[in-house]
Amino acid sequence: MTPDLMEQGARRVQARQAKLAQSTESGGRSAGFGRVVHAGEVDVTHGRILYLEDVSVSFDGFKAINKLSLDIAPGELRCIIGPNGAGKTTMMDIITGKTRPDEGTVYFGSTIDLLRYKEADIAQLGIGRKFQKPTVFEHLTVYENLELALKTDKGVKASMFFRLDSGQGDRLAEILHTIHLAGDVNRLAGNLSHGQKQWLEIGMLLMQDPKLLLLDEPVAGMTDEETVRTAELFLTLKGKHSLMVVEHDMSFIRSISEIVTVLCEGSVLAQGTLDEVQNDERVIEVYLGR
Ligand SMILES: Nc1ncnc2c1ncn2[C@@H]1O[C@H](COP(=O)(O)OP(=O)(O)OP(=O)(O)O)[C@@H](O)[C@H]1O
Ligand SMILES: [Mg+2]
Repeated sequence: MTPDLMEQGARRVQARQAKLAQSTESGGRSAGFGRVVHAGEVDVTHGRILYLEDVSVSFDGFKAINKLSLDIAPGELRCIIGPNGAGKTTMMDIITGKTRPDEGTVYFGSTIDLLRYKEADIAQLGIGRKFQKPTVFEHLTVYENLELALKTDKGVKASMFFRLDSGQGDRLAEILHTIHLAGDVNRLAGNLSHGQKQWLEIGMLLMQDPKLLLLDEPVAGMTDEETVRTAELFLTLKGKHSLMVVEHDMSFIRSISEIVTVLCEGSVLAQGTLDEVQNDERVIEVYLGR
């Protein structure tokens, strides 16, 4: 290395350290500097699996997300509520790389800057997303749908000869049980109820062992009984995975929630237990008191 290149390198290190010294407690973009993280792992040494700071996005001049900051702890089940148009789905679009924010910081663990990744890569990193409408393969059985979830990153030829290894087989059996479909393995997905299709899709996400699951209105359209069983399912997943659940169904939120974040006009309006946010005058005015 030539002396001028060494000098340039030393200047870069100095500049980076000066930036680190000014950073916030969480460290923002520089949080992981100098720490070794192994492939497939998420660094949660700062106690956060997901971290958003001052994120904004506008659509045709309308600020759908406005200086949004929030974080989620590893294994946490976070509920997000808020009026229509508050930006809940848009926030998930940003986390999963579907929408690029105009500004702000979005980190997965302390070291993975999600804004550097494409949508498909973010799924590979361990963030699974469930949209409102179930998207299972109706002409395949429950078993085949789950099996297929493991093949998504493989080419056509590799998929044709793909066989589950024993670990994957055990995992599939365990997931079938978790999603309450152990007795329906050979049924065509198209013949399942709406709720069962939702569970199957969650099972497909689980096959990839996501660290963080984003679930947008998962109980919309479910029967009361299905809703109760979905609450049980989420409580089983909590701890093993981190979950972000957006819902309008307050009795469902009550049955699963610890911390509830209220979004309004693209930012956090309130945060706390469900009782705390339900008694917050501002929340009553914009959402619950409608
Ligand atoms: N791609 C887009 N282009 C233009 N406007 C958008 C786009 N995505 C979202 N919006 C607007 O941003 C705002 C926030 O929408 P978003 O879907 O995130 O709300 P939400 O909180 O999920 O509401 P809901 O509870 O009805 O699902 C809305 O006004 C919406 O019309
Ligand atoms: Mg939405």
